[in-house]
Amino acid sequence: MTLTPLRQRRAYRALDERLEDVADRHLRDFFAQDPSRGTRLREVVEGIYFDYSKNRVDDTTLRLLLDLATESRVGERRDAMFAGEHINVSEDRAVLHVALRSPRGTSLMVDGVDVVSEVHAVLERMSHFADALRSGTWRGHTGKAIVNVVNIGIGGSDLGPVMAYEALRHYARRDLTFRFVSNVDATDLVEALDGLVADETLFIISSKTFGTLETLTNAHSARDWLVARLGDEAAVARHFVAVSTNAARVADFGIDPQNMFGFWDWVGGRYSLDSAIGLSTMIAIGPEDFSQFLAGMHAIDEHFRTAPFEHNVPVLMGVLGVWNRNFLGCATVGVMPYEQYLKRLPAYLQQLTMESNGKHVDLDGNVVDYATGPVYWGEPGTNGQHSFYQLLHQGTSVVPVDLIGFARSLNPVGEHHDLLSANIFAQAQALAFGRTDDEVRAEGTPEHLVAHRVMAGNRPTNVFLAEVLTPRVLGSLLALYEHAVFVQGTIWGVDSFDQWGVELGKEMAATIYPALSSPSDPVLTHDSSTNALITHYRALKRNEATRDDV
Ligand code: F6P
Repeated sequence: MTLTPLRQRRAYRALDERLEDVADRHLRDFFAQDPSRGTRLREVVEGIYFDYSKNRVDDTTLRLLLDLATESRVGERRDAMFAGEHINVSEDRAVLHVALRSPRGTSLMVDGVDVVSEVHAVLERMSHFADALRSGTWRGHTGKAIVNVVNIGIGGSDLGPVMAYEALRHYARRDLTFRFVSNVDATDLVEALDGLVADETLFIISSKTFGTLETLTNAHSARDWLVARLGDEAAVARHFVAVSTNAARVADFGIDPQNMFGFWDWVGGRYSLDSAIGLSTMIAIGPEDFSQFLAGMHAIDEHFRTAPFEHNVPVLMGVLGVWNRNFLGCATVGVMPYEQYLKRLPAYLQQLTMESNGKHVDLDGNVVDYATGPVYWGEPGTNGQHSFYQLLHQGTSVVPVDLIGFARSLNPVGEHHDLLSANIFAQAQALAFGRTDDEVRAEGTPEHLVAHRVMAGNRPTNVFLAEVLTPRVLGSLLALYEHAVFVQGTIWGVDSFDQWGVELGKEMAATIYPALSSPSDPVLTHDSSTNALITHYRALKRNEATRDDV
């Protein structure tokens, strides 16, 4: 049964009709009219306190947003995902990252196969390998133990591993060094290898397809680096492992399939940290902590699957995002972790959200007539406060912000942590309530500066607060965002699990590369700008261009 187009859905029209009334109201008024707002509009799940009271919604808006989720069949589509149906329609695939964290002993049959037992078989192999490496039982080619682990991958095969390593560094083995290489820019690889000793280094080549140009180029250069130092091709067997769905390509590269950790086409790259793509994380924090990370994700899966929409945190996150995007017209969302260990979380969420919901057609291929996924971006607090928060407070664009904090620091030193945390609450307050001209005047501000010091406020925020960053809490936080993305994609009617938009640039690069590397001047058949850029690049490369040469 096809869905009614978004703007014609009953709840959407009702939200639209009330828009002017609600959008004109200020968060100051919402709070003044309801002293219990701050304790009513919040949920706690898996120890994560989610305060959504500083969103520009009244109770009717909230109810209609939840109606919109129901009318958009979020529940049915969620159940279809958990049942292994091919909800990734444009690639005709199931979407089963939830199976990656299903506990041992449960089962999920897809096309006659119990995928949960397959998942646990791989987890077991990963655990043995991680334990062997951590205990020094796994030896390199010359008999030395491995002390350096280099993950080579890109997109979901890099952002998840590097984000999780940074996030869980407190729990990681400090006598092991972890480095991450993604960019085809050789500088990334060269700097990552700087100071590493070859016979103590393991490379994990992480690529779902094992066909990604950046990853394979880096993997080949890494192999050359290793073989040049150890003087023996056979060394590859003890220093390279692969994480992939493509055993044939792994074997072609020269990695023994025994040293490959598999996953499945029903795991999207940006949803793969909890698959074998998490191997570097497991080596860093150990299998037990990795299983806690998976347990945190699974707990949120259960919450998403069973909690009524009005208490369902991913559903609330999702519908509030739709409200901000489609009704308040907010084109970007800021994610600001007040936790240094989460410094790569914004980059990770960028891929999760933007590769999932940056789509212009619905599931049937019709061009949509409404906005879909916003731009996500962010930086750890309080650094952002001293750079771009100025625009958040007084700029002409309204940017909803997710603020993420913890009650306890993993590195308690003096007063640092309370000073940090005070900023989370203060920023949410300042963004919501601002400062009126009367307040500015009452502070004795000279009249000519009043307008400069006024802060309009009425900027929406969500605050996420947990006790302390643990593997389990990280898993829960990521799963909340995964499912919120799902809710939004379902309401927008897009395929959140394909990524056709990344193809064109790759194809064009493949046609341009020969012209850059050819020894003789090629005949250029691109547009005049591209032709001129290529010609100038070649001249610069040959050192034949002068500073002003065009
Ligand atoms: O180009 C985008 C993309 O396909 C992402 O979706 C994916 O995470 C990344 O490339 C890496 O792909 P692979 O794991 O197959 O190397």
